[in-house]
Amino acid sequence: METLTAINWIPACYIDDVPENGGVCMKHGDEQIAIYNFSRRNEWYATQNLCPHKQQMALSRGMIGSSGEDCEPKVACPFHKKTFSLLSGECLTGDDFSIKTYPVKVADGKVYVGVNAA
Ligand code: FES
Repeated sequence: METLTAINWIPACYIDDVPENGGVCMKHGDEQIAIYNFSRRNEWYATQNLCPHKQQMALSRGMIGSSGEDCEPKVACPFHKKTFSLLSGECLTGDDFSIKTYPVKVADGKVYVGVNAA
């Protein structure tokens, strides 16, 4: 049976705080969350900011783009270009890593990130 988890929507920043086709980072407890404004696609995404390859807090500064026939949205870490799906968090460069992804919503000029309610 599927368990439904309640989501807390955390106000992260204003839309204008996030560069077009770029990202910013927010702190949430002990974690850092990267928020991406994929303006070429008019989409927003959020993932953990920590790149699992060499434990660098870097993904918010990564290059975002689209991959394959499905045009899967992705981010490439600026250090060694390991690339992750912004939908599933799966590593798209064949490594055994994955990253956490978060739902995002935009309302009244603000960006909200959904985290599991404690
Ligand atoms: S630290 Fe991100 S790819 Fe190496």
